Amino acid sequence: MCGACTGLLNGEAVRGCLTFAVQCDGAEVETIEGLSDSGAVADLQRAFQERNALQCGYCTPGILISARELLADGNVPSRATIREHLSGHYCRCTGYQAIVDAIEAVARARISPPPRAGEEASKASRKGQVSARSEQASPLHRPAGGPPPPLRGGG
Ligand code: FES
Repeated sequence: MCGACTGLLNGEAVRGCLTFAVQCDGAEVETIEGLSDSGAVADLQRAFQERNALQCGYCTPGILISARELLADGNVPSRATIREHLSGHYCRCTGYQAIVDAIEAVARARISPPPRAGEEASKASRKGQVSARSEQASPLHRPAGGPPPPLRGGG
């Protein structure tokens, strides 16, 4: 058993080579193609690509499905737990280190996603508006190049 044929049967990861067709009768069957098209594993796919967690790609569909299953509860599993969960998968190419790195990174990102580029610019813009308003409200504020504020008191 290499794990490459892993799919989801009623939401649970199963090996295709160990599943009889009759077991699928009336069941919901999902493959990596369906999960990929729906975007359900997009962050995992991106992390695998960014971290070189695949080489020939033979094992990748099955590992992505198992990783999705592992991360479904929203927790960040330990590296040992990730390795144990992948124990039914055989990867001839990567040595698993990058695969574990990618899955761990996705688990961490899912609980505290990094800000998207647009959000960061929007926050900076809002902060600038607040800052500009508070400067205008200040009695000492003067526009750049404008006259100095009048002196008050015994000047
Ligand atoms: S990337 Fe080749 S078997 Fe895993």
